Amino acid sequence: MKVLVIGANGNTAKRVIRRLTESEHDAVAMIRNSSQRANLDKLGVPTVLADLEYPIDHAVEGCDAIIFAAGSGGKTGKDKTVLIDHIGAIRSMVAAQVHGVQRYIMLSSINNDVNSQSRIAHYHRAKAHADNHLVETGLDYTIVCPGGLTDEPSSELVTIATELQGSGMTSRENVAAALVACLDYDNTIRKSFSLIDGKTPLAQAIKAL
Ligand SMILES: NC(=O)c1ccc[n+]([C@@H]2O[C@H](COP(=O)([O-])OP(=O)(O)OC[C@H]3O[C@@H](n4cnc5c(N)ncnc54)[C@H](OP(=O)(O)O)[C@@H]3O)[C@@H](O)[C@H]2O)c1
Repeated sequence: MKVLVIGANGNTAKRVIRRLTESEHDAVAMIRNSSQRANLDKLGVPTVLADLEYPIDHAVEGCDAIIFAAGSGGKTGKDKTVLIDHIGAIRSMVAAQVHGVQRYIMLSSINNDVNSQSRIAHYHRAKAHADNHLVETGLDYTIVCPGGLTDEPSSELVTIATELQGSGMTSRENVAAALVACLDYDNTIRKSFSLIDGKTPLAQAIKAL
């Protein structure tokens, strides 16, 4: 599949791209700054410039699947959380619908809730709105909800559950492995699951969903 990675310069997305280059799938990297191209050129991964605050149809058109791994991050204001994690995400879903990109894999988070009262409620609310919208789109979605992200090496040992509230840490490598694996496991379609570093081999945990 030709897979558009949204947020391709991100810490998790870079790992997704690397794994896609090692897979049967073809990555297209959506970045918002041409200075981010060099590393992707070295990997032989085509890039497309697009920003989630503006139309992204030119990036989505012609792809078979989307992996959404973008986010406004913790250093921007709450306004950007709404504009990117909520509205920007929905913009990408609409573009997927318009251009017939049926497969959509969302990097989300545990503890999302439209009524969240957490320390980062603005984030958990924005992600919940985006996730809830995705479920209603008719797209073949998978929503992957990790705990706190770390830069630990890949263990590909995880705990996967359909309960989306909880606690725990997840290595970005394990998240990337799960996001890419979802492309090959159709039993993940129309499912949302939490993903925490654990003891079960990733493929086994995904197959058991
Ligand atoms: N941090 C955690 O503990 C945690 C826990 C659970 C879930 N998550 C989720 O995981 C996601 C990925 O985490 P990460 O650490 O890999 O994030 P990251 O390194 O901050 O990457 C986010 C990417 O999103 C891109 N982006 C931001 N605004 C954009 C826009 N308007 N248009 C297009 N792209 C845009 C950024 O582009 P630039 O490179 O150009 O800035 C960046 O490359 C987070 O966004 C969050 O939703 C995080």
